[in-house]
Amino acid sequence: MKNKHASIRLVGISGSLRRLSYCTAILRTLRDELPDEVMLDIFELSRIPLYNEDRETDDFPSSVQTFKDAVTRCDGVVIVSPEYNHGMPGVFKNALDWASQPINKSPFAGKPTLVMTASPAFTGGVRAQVQIAETLRAMLANVISFPQVVVPAAHAKIVDGRLKDPASLDFAMKAIDALVVAIKQRRLISSSDD
Ligand SMILES: Cc1cc2nc3c(=O)[nH]c(=O)nc-3n(C[C@H](O)[C@H](O)[C@H](O)COP(=O)(O)O)c2cc1C
Repeated sequence: MKNKHASIRLVGISGSLRRLSYCTAILRTLRDELPDEVMLDIFELSRIPLYNEDRETDDFPSSVQTFKDAVTRCDGVVIVSPEYNHGMPGVFKNALDWASQPINKSPFAGKPTLVMTASPAFTGGVRAQVQIAETLRAMLANVISFPQVVVPAAHAKIVDGRLKDPASLDFAMKAIDALVVAIKQRRLISSSDD
């Protein structure tokens, strides 16, 4: 595993379960490019069941607990999602709904969170990105607001499971830099509170 002694630990979430997902490929590429002080684990959403509020008290799914624990333990989250029908994919919204509870005590609360979208279309999934950021704000996440990374024409930029377009990768890495700055600021604030 790359950077396994890193001091900053990120969790990457792909909004797509597709085997050859462009979004997952972008996450893998970012993981490869991180500076030594940062590592990223990609969390798979495929085991998350459909949200049912009854299961909050009765038969809470272990896969959801694992997901919530991963978000709790990490320093920051990187989301790369497609756009489905001008919004975020249902599987991804479903996972966020699980992670949103209990209300105001989500593991995302205060968590520096970076959102990117990718699409074969010219619009790069920007409509889904706005929706994802809004949902994360409802969960009190610290959504990194700049730069907003979209990867349009993703089908032409992903080769052999990696993002090969230098301009897109450079832009995405600048957003990772902004995420790392937010994480370091959060650490400074919490250490000055001690
Ligand atoms: C159900 C469905 C709805 C889609 N709707 C949109 C859309 O609204 N906008 C868009 O840019 N792409 C849309 N697409 C195309 C996806 O962007 C494309 O399938 C993309 O490759 C999915 O991301 P992935 O490669 O990470 O799986 C849609 C695809 C599916 C399957």
